[in-house]
Amino acid sequence: MHELPRTDGLVALHATARDVRATHLEFVLSTQRIMRLLLEEALGQLQHTDSTPTTPIGATFPGRVRVQRETFAVSVPRAGDALEAELRSIVPDARLGKILIQRDPQRKVPVFHWSKLPDGIAGKEVLLLDPMMATAGTVKMAVSVLAAAGVRPADIVLVNFLTCPEALGKLFAEYPEIRVVTSFVDEGLTEQAFMRPGIGDFGDRYYGTHG
Ligand code: PRP
Repeated sequence: MHELPRTDGLVALHATARDVRATHLEFVLSTQRIMRLLLEEALGQLQHTDSTPTTPIGATFPGRVRVQRETFAVSVPRAGDALEAELRSIVPDARLGKILIQRDPQRKVPVFHWSKLPDGIAGKEVLLLDPMMATAGTVKMAVSVLAAAGVRPADIVLVNFLTCPEALGKLFAEYPEIRVVTSFVDEGLTEQAFMRPGIGDFGDRYYGTHG
C-alpha cells in the first residue's frame, strides 16, 4: 500500500478537482496532473534490478532497470480509460487490455460485461487502472478476471486515484498480496456508497457526460 505524500502541491490539485464548482477543464487538468504522479509511482513499484550505465564522461551510474521489459496494463472503463490515456503518454508501447465492469446504479454492485486481455499476460506484472474504489466490488471482480487469466494477485499493482478505509479493508481481506498505489485515502463511505469528502462521479466529471 503506497499513498502519495500529502504535499501542498498534491492537496492543491485535489482541492481544485474536488470543488463542485470546478469547470470541466479544471477537473481534467488537475486530475491529469495527479494521474501522472500516480503512474510514475506505480511504474516505480514494479520489480527492478541493478543496472550501471556508463555516462558521457566515462563514469558509471549506479542505476536500476525494470526486470520486465514490457509494460502490461488493464483498465476498467470508463474512468480507468483516463488513466490509460495518461499511461500511453508515458509508455506509448504499453500492452493494454480492458475489463468492462459497470456498477448497477441502484444496488451499487458490479456487473461484468466483457474483457479483452493482451496475449502473454499470464505470469506477468500488471498495472490495474481504476481511479475510484468505493466498495471495492469492481476491483475485486477485475482481480478475479486477471487471476483466471493466470495473473497472480501479488503481481498486480492497482493504480487508484481515490479510495477509503472500508474499500482497502475489503480488498486486502480477499487479496492481501495485491499492491495499491493511491493519491488519497478519504475518510469513509456514505450510506449511498459515495466516498466522503469525495470527488463525485469521476467518469462523468472527466468525460463531461452531464452538462
Ligand atoms: C465507478 C468507478 C469504479 C467503480 C468503483 O465506475 O470508476 O470502477 O465505480 O466503485 P466500487 O468500488 O463500489 O465498485 P462505474 O461503474 O460507476 O462506471 P463509470 O466508470 O462509467 O463511471
